[in-house]
Amino acid sequence: MREYDCWFQKQDGEPCVKGGLPERILLAGGGEIFNNAVAEYSELLLRKWGVKTVKLNGFTGERCVVIGVLDEIRSKNLNFSLPASLPPEGFLIRSGDDGLLICGADERGALYGVYRFLALLASGAFSENFETTDSPRSKYRIINHWDEASGFIERGYAGRSLFFKDGEIKYDAARIKDYARLLASTGINIISINNVNVRGEAKRFITEEYLPGVAALSAIFRPFGVRLMLSINFAAPCVIGPLATADPLDEKVAAWWAERARVVYSCIPDLAGFLVKADSEGEPGPFQYGRTHADGANMLAAALKPYGGELIWRCFVYNNSQDWRNWKIDRARAACDVFLPLDGAFSDNVLLQIKYGPLDFQVLEPVTPLLGALKKTRRLIEFQITQEYTGQQIDLCFLPYMWEKVMNFDAAYAETGFKIKELAANGGFEGIEGFAAVANTGLDKNWTGHTLAQANLYGYGRIAWKPDLKALDIAEEWSRLTFGVKQPKTAETVSQILMRSYPAYEKYNAPFGICFMVTPSTHYGPNIEGYEYSKWGTYHRADLHAIGVDRTVRGSGYAALYAPKNAAVFSDPSLCPKEFLLFFHRLPYGRLLANGETLLQNIYDSHFEGVEEAQKMMEDWEALKEAVDGCVYESVLEKFKLQIKNAREWRDQINTYFFRKTGISDAKGRLIYP
Ligand code: GCU
Repeated sequence: MREYDCWFQKQDGEPCVKGGLPERILLAGGGEIFNNAVAEYSELLLRKWGVKTVKLNGFTGERCVVIGVLDEIRSKNLNFSLPASLPPEGFLIRSGDDGLLICGADERGALYGVYRFLALLASGAFSENFETTDSPRSKYRIINHWDEASGFIERGYAGRSLFFKDGEIKYDAARIKDYARLLASTGINIISINNVNVRGEAKRFITEEYLPGVAALSAIFRPFGVRLMLSINFAAPCVIGPLATADPLDEKVAAWWAERARVVYSCIPDLAGFLVKADSEGEPGPFQYGRTHADGANMLAAALKPYGGELIWRCFVYNNSQDWRNWKIDRARAACDVFLPLDGAFSDNVLLQIKYGPLDFQVLEPVTPLLGALKKTRRLIEFQITQEYTGQQIDLCFLPYMWEKVMNFDAAYAETGFKIKELAANGGFEGIEGFAAVANTGLDKNWTGHTLAQANLYGYGRIAWKPDLKALDIAEEWSRLTFGVKQPKTAETVSQILMRSYPAYEKYNAPFGICFMVTPSTHYGPNIEGYEYSKWGTYHRADLHAIGVDRTVRGSGYAALYAPKNAAVFSDPSLCPKEFLLFFHRLPYGRLLANGETLLQNIYDSHFEGVEEAQKMMEDWEALKEAVDGCVYESVLEKFKLQIKNAREWRDQINTYFFRKTGISDAKGRLIYP
């Protein structure tokens, strides 16, 4: 097993296809992406099963695989029954007496069809007389890199940048191609390559000095159907010059951006657009000029419009100069306060990118009301694959487990009971048009630091493609592709470990939706008061009697921002889901919860259990010693050891903190350090 190959591991043995592996290819299509689909088929068949392919010039009557796009296959009169149409980027895979067909709606569809076919083969899910059609439910399936020109990655836990080094665009082209394959094989179609905090030389990526480098990079991704996007600095007209203002309503500023867009698109005609973090955590933005975020976004969108570019504008905007004594300021409200009044005010090539929770990728956060409340604004949901708050690729934390819950959140949109996954499948102005997520990849040889964190990258692509996929299905799929199907027990054990990892992490982390009990700045490991009195926000308000943030109308009023049905549930502590209890309510430690135990005892219990569960995951991994490649086995084992250390640290700091506050011991007599 080569960790580097991720879910494209070499497979032993022949997969089940009547008449053997289809090595003769009949082509029915053309174009850069299509040709790459065929090249990928040949390369992967050879690499995974040692089978050499041959291309046929015409139909010879021999058994073959037809790879094509629908219209071209139809025009060849090949005697296949074909569907009248397929949704964009979709495909049909069919095997039968008439041979094997991989038919894309378009070039991308053909590429995705090839990858799906190979995955089905590798995971033993392909059989004779098989037929499947599939297509992505959302148009935008985006990866955001937080890579800086220096090579450093903000919140990166897998080594340095794949794209940049020492202030330059510098990379290993073969590795980028392998990366493009990984992304495309899960359906990713856009990648923003530089950090949303645009620092250093990256501020100049939109200039003639750097654009040829960006263009060369985009040429590697293009055959994989992945378009590039650039993060830009709102103050670029001043930073790059020569203007003295970046005021979005100043004509000179608009003209400056129009000219920049012209130059950028002359180098990279298919650039997906610009991504902007404005008025957030020190980044410049329209507020500096007394303008709205619609003013800022629309001005930039107008510059991109002639080239078909989109402007993606992040909603991660909040006041980061707070005072803990003020109980009315609530960071959770901020995005709604800024963006809800602007619903309908954005141009048609603007998409708002909204973090799934109201704060910041915390372990337990309710889904933000903004996603469902906006009605006339195009939007994307933002996830974080890099594990900033979820264990930093030291602790195992299988994120699709949580993403599935987000997808199943009932947005109670217009009180019709839409779930986020249905909004995401809907598209258009009524829904969420796609997904963006912060990458977890870097130059480490296994791409993601923790080998099992590859499952998060894979899982993100799969959810963005099909929002109603279950985390368990993703875990099983990934485990089979990565660990093979010859010893089914191995993949089965790995997928079970993955599925238990998020709940275990939740248990030893901050309790019941309390956020940010982490070490300031690094965000790894516990520090209960670390952020509590800082200007970045106040998160738990624990004293000797009670803990939690009152976000009902008596408090910050955040809960009332939800549609009425959700607002009622979140506002009532007896109805509020347990995992968000302290996110919405300030409660005494002695409050009895549904299980008959006090709030405090629940906190103690979950922290003891969290450590036990982390230990159990490690034991289950140890049982795979003989079945898994030695290097992978050892590296994952090392991570588990560190994870257990971290889990114990969390357990002890949290339990001791509350023991000291309340003077109440664990009812079950377990050790809590005084
Ligand atoms: C978090 C993270 C920052 C990042 C920010 C963002 O606050 O800690 O490093 O810049 O999110 O999403 O922009």
